[in-house]
Amino acid sequence: MKYGLPALLGCLVVLGGQPALAMGSGAVCLPYPVNPKYREECGSCHVAYSPSLLPARSWRKTMENLDKHFDSDASIEEPVRVALERHLVENAMDSEEATCRMDMMNRGLSARDVPLRITATPYFRRIHRPIGSMVWKHEKVGSSANCGACHSQADRGRYASSELRLPVEIQDLVARRQKGCM
Ligand code: HEC
Ligand code: HEC
Repeated sequence: MKYGLPALLGCLVVLGGQPALAMGSGAVCLPYPVNPKYREECGSCHVAYSPSLLPARSWRKTMENLDKHFDSDASIEEPVRVALERHLVENAMDSEEATCRMDMMNRGLSARDVPLRITATPYFRRIHRPIGSMVWKHEKVGSSANCGACHSQADRGRYASSELRLPVEIQDLVARRQKGCM
């Protein structure tokens, strides 16, 4: 397998700057309030993403367009939709109630950005720099949006590195990238 110049340069930048894996700091997660309705409605197609992973403005936009939700129809009846939007907004990344405040989270996100994908945010890419497309596309993972493949407590809104359980099949790939270049 060959790796192009851009990848190599990126790698040198990583090595020259901070360690490729300077995680574990800055994450302060309190127990995420259990909301069975949220898990039922928003956890049937994918893991019920913790509200603290996106700002309130992102959740409002998502909840306004559930009929066109990433090529799926995720519509919910109106009273439930309103209640779930409130739950998301109250526990959003930029809310006072946020259960999981991470310094790195807001970094690189301007007030005008309204990301609908956690996986497209600068902080997500930053934290997951040791993970390359080969890992994301691995059959044990499938997509970066499949948090539960690696984060054993993702469905409870917890992503601490101490609770990571990488599938054995990808451990080597991740370890090699963490060490340096791949
Ligand atoms: C009918 C299935 C379905 C339901 C129900 C559903 N979603 Fe999704 N959702 C999807 C699909 C499909 C994607 C795109 C996944 C991908 O690209 O890997 C997605 C992606 C997302 C993403 C972006 C993930 C990323 O890439 O960071 C968020 C956030 C999200 N959904 C929130 C919600 C919320 C909130 C609810 C409940 C109101 C919900 N979803 C209900 C199908 C669904
Ligand atoms: C292929 C495995 C994998 C997938 C899938 C994955 N992650 Fe991670 N995640 C990791 C690894 C590895 C780390 C680095 C942990 C460390 O060493 O601190 C990490 C770190 C994190 C951290 C920082 C934890 C801390 O304590 O500093 C957060 C938050 C996080 N991931 C959220 C997510 C979310 C949200 C998703 C899904 C949208 C996701 N991850 C998908 C492997 C994964």
